[in-house]
Amino acid sequence: MVGVKGDEQIRTDATGHPINRMFADVPQDEPQVFAEPGFEGEIAAFNLFAYLSRSNVTWNPSVVSVCKESLYCPTTEEYILPIVHGNDRVEWFIQLSDEIVWDVADRETGAPRAKVTMRAGDCAAMPADIRHQGFSSKRSMLLVWENNSADLPALIASGKAPQYPVSF
Ligand SMILES: [Fe+2]
Repeated sequence: MVGVKGDEQIRTDATGHPINRMFADVPQDEPQVFAEPGFEGEIAAFNLFAYLSRSNVTWNPSVVSVCKESLYCPTTEEYILPIVHGNDRVEWFIQLSDEIVWDVADRETGAPRAKVTMRAGDCAAMPADIRHQGFSSKRSMLLVWENNSADLPALIASGKAPQYPVSF
């Protein structure tokens, strides 16, 4: 996790991570941590928005926490995702700021399946059998959460794991 001793450190000007010009308004203050004696080296907190505002590549995940195979991979976005991403697993999206419009299509045929407009606070799950391209005309921040297990594509292909995140 970002900020923990021996792991990824907080981004600053000094680490070569200037604030992206599209995120100049993002506050850069950091949380204060008051650890009980004896736990000082085990507790960390950081300003996720400030960290993301200093990402040097847009549409590119910053892995900020890992819990077994569960990864939080937030991104910043500007303009157009320069590739069409083909999913091989479910992705959960929580829109942290601004807006992204997703064109969602069948992964194999490219046939359109949905247009998803996500605004700050919206949550969506992209299934494993789609391809998608995002458009963020101003800028945005997005939390991507996924299961990183290397076994997932084979489990999904064999039908042992579902293409969808949840059944209602
Ligand atoms: Fe994707």
